[in-house]
Amino acid sequence: MARRYTSNLTWDDVTPEHLFLNRRQLIAGSGAMLGAGLIGGSAQAQEAMEAMEPNTFEEITTYNNFYEFGTGKDDPARNAHTLVTSPWSVEIDGLVDNPGTYSFEDIMSEVEVEERIYRLRCVEAWSMVVPWNGFELADLLNRVGVQDGARYVAFETANRPDEMPGLRSPVLDWPYREGLRLDEAMHPLTIMATGIYGRDIPNQNGAPMRLVVPWKYGYKSIKSIVRISLVEDQPRASWNEYSANEYGFYSNVNPEVDHPRWSQASERRIGGGLFAQRQPTLMFNGYADEVTSLYEGMDLDEFH
Ligand code: MTE
Repeated sequence: MARRYTSNLTWDDVTPEHLFLNRRQLIAGSGAMLGAGLIGGSAQAQEAMEAMEPNTFEEITTYNNFYEFGTGKDDPARNAHTLVTSPWSVEIDGLVDNPGTYSFEDIMSEVEVEERIYRLRCVEAWSMVVPWNGFELADLLNRVGVQDGARYVAFETANRPDEMPGLRSPVLDWPYREGLRLDEAMHPLTIMATGIYGRDIPNQNGAPMRLVVPWKYGYKSIKSIVRISLVEDQPRASWNEYSANEYGFYSNVNPEVDHPRWSQASERRIGGGLFAQRQPTLMFNGYADEVTSLYEGMDLDEFH
């Protein structure tokens, strides 16, 4: 199976800028300059560095949301082994030059796989840092050729009752669906993840291919994708349909717009231990420098 892991990105490319600066400050401060009075900034720098310290493989693969395998955090790790991920194919249709059913291997032989260390902020106010392996969604979309008139991208998860015990409960209107505006889908931060820590992505994390949009709440990052459609109108999205005032279509991480039932101003970091401090949530999950321009002129409260 062709799996190219190129690593031409640096921390600079994938780390929110202010965290990166703080990281450098900490590294500088930990050496010779420590004695030179720079220690004052180090608590904040320490916090920023911890905020980008990757979670362990164990944490990332045992505390999951994948309701097709149950609603408990440990259900996916226990149940998702029944999902058959090989062979796997993805239907790409709608407003594209080359619609078709593409095998996972064909896709992987065309795209550039890289490592991206991203923060994942769940709408339930917890977060993790995950070293993904994946490719830019734009890479795939450019290869199939997006036609004029396409304004959104719609995604669907596999819908296999025999392999997904959670589909027996009507928690959501299955299959799980998500959508992005075309410019969000084409943004270089948006990836299709196929691995974690250089290993094939485990079933509970969305094998063999799942979306990761790091500046949005985790539920936009749809797992085990079987269909990608380029469309003109805003597509259906599962949580948005479940409750539109709680789960907006955009779902950009925003500490100033609370969920109707809880605050989004801070978050609990998974793996931080019992006494870990809550961290303040950052606008666009720390990726504001990269993505603020996508929403210029939009009321982010209305379009939450
Ligand atoms: N995709 C599908 N198909 N089904 C789901 O239940 N849960 C979402 C998202 N993608 C979900 C899904 C939510 S709420 C989150 S926070 C992330 O997956 C969690 O990803 P992780 O388990 O890899 O951390």
